[in-house]
Amino acid sequence: MIWRNTDYNDGMNNEALKDQEAHRVKIQAELDSKKTSLERNRLWQFATPTSLARDVVSYWLTLLWNESIDFIDPAFGTGSFFSALLQMKGGKEIRSARAYELDSHYGESSMDLWRNHGIQISLSDFTKALPGKSDKFNLLICNPPYVRHHHIPAQEKRRLRNLSERISWMRLSGLAGLHCHFMAISHQWMKDGGVAGWLIPSGFMDVNYGVEMKRYLLERVTLMRIHRFDPDDVQFDDALVSSSVVWFKNAPPPVGHKVEFTFWGTHENPHVSKMIEVSDLKPEAKWTRFPKSDTRSSTSCLTIADVFEIRRGIATGWNSFFVLSKEKIENLWLPMKFFRPILPSSRYVPGNRIDADKNGIPLLEEQLFLLNCSLSEDKIRSEYPTLWKYLENGREEMKNRYLCKSRTIWYKQESRAPAPFLCTYMGRPNSKHWKPFRFILNRSVAIATNNYLMLYPKAGVASAIAGQPDTLDKIWNCLNSISIDNLVEGGRVYGGGLHKVEPKELAKIPLVGLDFA
Ligand SMILES: C[S@@+](CC[C@H](N)C(=O)[O-])C[C@H]1O[C@@H](n2cnc3c(N)ncnc32)[C@H](O)[C@@H]1O
Repeated sequence: MIWRNTDYNDGMNNEALKDQEAHRVKIQAELDSKKTSLERNRLWQFATPTSLARDVVSYWLTLLWNESIDFIDPAFGTGSFFSALLQMKGGKEIRSARAYELDSHYGESSMDLWRNHGIQISLSDFTKALPGKSDKFNLLICNPPYVRHHHIPAQEKRRLRNLSERISWMRLSGLAGLHCHFMAISHQWMKDGGVAGWLIPSGFMDVNYGVEMKRYLLERVTLMRIHRFDPDDVQFDDALVSSSVVWFKNAPPPVGHKVEFTFWGTHENPHVSKMIEVSDLKPEAKWTRFPKSDTRSSTSCLTIADVFEIRRGIATGWNSFFVLSKEKIENLWLPMKFFRPILPSSRYVPGNRIDADKNGIPLLEEQLFLLNCSLSEDKIRSEYPTLWKYLENGREEMKNRYLCKSRTIWYKQESRAPAPFLCTYMGRPNSKHWKPFRFILNRSVAIATNNYLMLYPKAGVASAIAGQPDTLDKIWNCLNSISIDNLVEGGRVYGGGLHKVEPKELAKIPLVGLDFA
């Protein structure tokens, strides 16, 4: 369904447009309140706040256009960007304006709200719309639906992937969310030389599914600017994501082109800014290191992967059943020989070093043990009645635990040696620990659950440690002197400031000053 008119301001002066924006915000809030957050999450219905929409539109104004505006917003909601554009465009003429909105809950109110402003609002799926010959736009601003890949049905994903590849040559992986396809598909709606501003989660800059988007941004169009908001300062009251605004022009990049990376502050007044050459961006896997860091000089220093085998701690499938305190084991008269020390969560490990008693038990306030037994049920029943009783108590619940029920012996854990180093791979820097991840020297025989990554020295390093015990301390010092920037850049950050580093990412972090020559 399409609505047409031609007076974009509807005769309104700036004061009236401001009132119209206030009215829009009120309607948006009313519409939001009629949906559960689960429903809003399904189509990613999180509106752009007025100040952010203005911030974004004001940047476009600095690009100093003389042309008339052909505007499109492929995920309109109630039209925050269109509203900001009307208020801020000054004397510039809007020649055409188009919008798509899939959900009539928002779309119908939008049509009502903008009924006299000439914008054509189509209540349909943007990814299924086909542009006519004259349907090209020179200004696209969009906060697309960030629907994660696991919420896109397989057949729909296939359709989107084919379409994205055909239109923009982006061969998006199955892990790409709907927002990536929105960017790819909208290429066909852009005029040559037209400008697009996308408000999207920052994740694409660092993760594998973003590789094809970055290739598109560097090769097919001219990437002008990426502003990344401080992940601690989430832009949406109701959705926890770390956001960026990506600006590009639909034209091949000139030779030697430089991209402006900005960070912190507002989009209009960023605190840090740096120009980075496209040739430096192409080999760089982690774009979020800009603008705070410089381009990497090729370095020959060792990385964590050169020194360690990295493994996740063990997954028991049911920690509260399998991990017990000594007191509980004694109270239940369980045979100690079926338990081995395991570390508590890193919350209960105050420093970066775990010492042990003469039996190798960690000297920590919270001492825990993992139940691990490979005997048959018959043998346990006849020889270890207290353990049998304990297992019987867990039998029903075990059937709801995927990992336990899929093991041949449901109470047998994977075998794992203690690791001399552990990494807490998820965290927020705080007054106690100012780095997001910690490297803990483990002098005990305790193993760890998957709250930790376990670092096992590779063969050559292990023999260096055996030959010269102070090597362990040398490595530990080196791990702890990894700069906060290298740690943060090596991993990823989620809205709300939670940092995480996956084993493959940790593997690439350099260990400056370490050698075994
Ligand atoms: C993040 S909101 C942005 C709304 C508005 N542009 C703003 O910035 O406030 C994304 C909007 O896209 C709509 N949407 C989701 N899937 C869509 C699709 N396939 N086609 C068109 N709109 C879609 C959602 O209903 C939602 O209103």
